[in-house]
Formats: sequence, structure tokens, C-alpha cells
Amino acid sequence: MNDRLPSGGPGSARQGWWQGRNEREASRVEMQALKGFKDILPVESGTWQAMEARAREVLARHGCAEIRVPLLEKTELFARSIGQATDIVEKEMYSFTDRNGESVTLRPEGTASVLRAFVEHGLHTVQAVQRLYTLGPMFRHERPQKGRLRQFHQLSVEVIGSASPYVDAEVMAMAWSVLAANGVAASLEINSLGCPGCRPAYRELLLTFLNDLAAELCPDCQRRRSTNPLRVMDCKSSHCQERYQGLPKMKDHLCGACQEHFVRVQGSLQALGIPYAVNPAMVRGLDYYVRTAFELVTDQLGAQAAVGAGGRYDGLIAALGGPDLPAIGFAIGLERLALLVEQAAAAAVSPPALDLFLVGLGQEATGRLMALAHAARGLGLRVGQDFEGRSLKAQLKLADRLGARWVLVLGDNELRQGQALMKEMASGRQQPLPVAPAPRAWAEALMPLCQPSSTTPGPI
Ligand code: HAM
Repeated sequence: MNDRLPSGGPGSARQGWWQGRNEREASRVEMQALKGFKDILPVESGTWQAMEARAREVLARHGCAEIRVPLLEKTELFARSIGQATDIVEKEMYSFTDRNGESVTLRPEGTASVLRAFVEHGLHTVQAVQRLYTLGPMFRHERPQKGRLRQFHQLSVEVIGSASPYVDAEVMAMAWSVLAANGVAASLEINSLGCPGCRPAYRELLLTFLNDLAAELCPDCQRRRSTNPLRVMDCKSSHCQERYQGLPKMKDHLCGACQEHFVRVQGSLQALGIPYAVNPAMVRGLDYYVRTAFELVTDQLGAQAAVGAGGRYDGLIAALGGPDLPAIGFAIGLERLALLVEQAAAAAVSPPALDLFLVGLGQEATGRLMALAHAARGLGLRVGQDFEGRSLKAQLKLADRLGARWVLVLGDNELRQGQALMKEMASGRQQPLPVAPAPRAWAEALMPLCQPSSTTPGPI
């Protein structure tokens, strides 16, 4: 038996088991999940399963089929698609050399892997327009905070083979509907990032503007000026943002075809009744987008405003060695969606405030108040009562916590004297209320004071 024990440190035998307390503490720390990696516990997994089922149902209605792709790919796939000069490729990828000496990367997003599979298996030969989705973990070495993890999950959707602006609108509607099916509303922001025809001239214009400001910009923007000038718009520094007030906007420098596409996308969104706002400062963190780019943003997630995002990426499939097919897609961050779903559920189940809380002090008074509560509820009032024999102070505290507008206080003595006390919680106003022998009559006497809340159905 002893042979199987790990050899402890000095004095381990005397420390009870094979480890001392300090060693046990230390090993407990080591056994925590990595920073930015999160367990989805049994209490949460129900939310996740429901969320995913609703999403799958929406996608099925749009004719999407699931594709499951590996978590690990050649590093080059992401460098070539997402862009060498993006934050993701420059500093966030989990890349390593495998045992064959090949540089491999845990996927930071789903699009590149889905397109790699699409090309590898010649899926364009199966059907002219392919609608694919994948769901699973992605990895980015970002600074973790609420709604931002290093391993997170995306629902990623790609519609391949159509350049129609109607498809752009439909894809945005799909993302919108996945959120709506989960009881979440977000604001849709859209922009056009132009195409390889019009973007170079715009880039030059932007560079001229930035060169004039060069000395005043933060080091990040200095760097972006030469690597990826569009990304200066994402700079968090208010100093830089003040200087970008007059920055030329891509949407004002679109070629005729991009301009027409953008107008038709907006017309289609209007036809679908999906509200949107044009955000000319929106640039995406991935380089593959052309024309339409969009984000679904909310103010309920702190700094991480985007619950979903996407755009058109015509040209990317050809760049990956496949046929020259237009395509558009989006991804929804499932941790962020789960936070929003939980917030919405908490708001939905939080009990409505009470019209009246009945404070009974003594057995007899409590019994009489129970009958009053029943009668008052029958008249449409929301009524709460304590049956735990708490003190007056504790019951008043409870009434306050439950948001009661009025409190009725009745002790056994007051009951004998036939006089209860009514107190309006907000104002502190008090007034006596005679005890009526019949609960229904007593409840009716309360009605002029505590009108039922507007959402309460009438008498039943
Ligand atoms: P993305 O904007 O990088 O786009 O990510 C899409 C969504 O994934 C974000 O809006 C956010 O909800 C979630 N997300 C991103 N990073 C994190 C993180 N560190 N922690 C938690 N959630 C995160 C893409 O990935 C594109 N592939 C989308 C796409 C598909 N475009 C075309 N097709």
C-alpha cells in the first residue's frame, strides 16, 4: 500500500497523508483552470443547450446545415485569411510547433476552417449556394474580462456562393433571429468597407490624413499607420479619437457598384423591418471583409459590446485556393449570448412588486390576515405575508425588499380593539383601518388605498 504513495517531501509521513497542508494548498492552486478558460457547470448547461437548440432551429429555417471542423489547423490558414497585420494573428493566436515540426494553431474563429473544409471537399460542386454553420470553441489569447475569454464559443454561419445584397440582409436577419429566439434584442450597426477596386484610393486618402497627424498619435496608431491604417478607427485612446473627428469615411468613397450594393442592403433591411444604424467608424478586426460589415451590439455587456458580428468576404475563398465565390457570414459569441439570456431570464422571473404586505404579530392576527390576503388577491391585489413569526422590524424590512407599496400591521391586541394600521412605504404616511369581520368586506375597504398595479388583471 505504502509503495503506491507518492514520495512526500521532508516529514511527509508525520503530516497526516502524504502531503503537508501547504503542499495541498499549492496543488489546489495548480489544479485551477487556465486564466480565461471557463467550465460550463451543470447549473449553466441547461441554458446553453436551450440556447443552442433555439439557434439550430432558426438556422434550419434558413436552410443551413451543420459542418464540424477540427480545432487545430495549420497556422498559415489563419495568417492568410484573417490577415497578418491583425491583432488576432499578431498577438492572440495559440500557435505551437507540433511533434512533426509543423506550426499549428488552435482556431481563433470558425470562418477560415469552414472555408478550408469547403475548398478541400469541393462542396461548391454539391450545391450552388451553400449555407453552413458550425458551433464550438475558439481560442484567442486576449486579456480576460466579463464576456471576453481565451476559450470562448461561437456559432459561426457562412453563406457561400451569392453576391446578392438580399443575401446580406437575410444573413443579418438570421443573426437577428437567433438573438430574438433567445429573448435578446441587440442593435444592428452596419457599414460598407468597399472592395479591392475602391479601397486602395481610400487607403491613400486615409494615409495622407494620418501622415499629417503622425507626431500626435499613440504608438499603436503609429504602427497601424503602416500596417493596417483602417484599424486606427478602433483606437481606444480619446486623444487619438479627438484627432480623428474629420477622418475620411469609407462609405463616402465607395465605387459605384459598392455604393449601389450598400443602398440595396439597406433597402432590404427596411423591407424586412429590421432596424439598423450606419456606423461609418466600424472596421472589423479581421482583414477579409469587403463591402458589408455588421455588428450586433448591446449596452448590457460592459466593454464587450458585440454579441455577434460578420460581413461579406468575396475573394477569400479564391485566396485560399478555392473557386472565386462570393460569401458572407457572421458569428455569435455564445458566452455573451448566455450572459444576455440569463439577464433576460432574471428580469422575467423577478417577482412583481407587491401592492400590500400584511404584517401579523401573533397567531390570531396572522390567521385573520391570511383570510384577508386571500380575499384581497381575489380583488386583484398583489399581496405578501410572513408566516415565520418574525419581529415587526424584520417584517417591515421584508416588505421593503419585496417592493410593497402599502403595509398593514395587525397584532393580537389591535385585533381585539378592532383597529389595524396602514402605512404607505414610500411616504411613511400612516392611517388606521377598522377591522371588518368578513374578509371580503375588509379587502374591499382596502381598495381605495391600494389600487392594484396596472399589470394586475382585474378581480377574479
Ligand atoms: P469576430 O468579431 O472576431 O468575428 O467574433 C464574433 C463574435 O465572437 C464577437 O462578436 C463576440 O461575440 C465573440 N467573441 C470574439 N472574441 C471573443 C472572446 N475573446 N471572448 C468571448 N467572445 C468572443 C469572427 O470571428 C468572424 N469569423 C465572424 C464571421 C463569420 N464573419 C464571417 N463569417
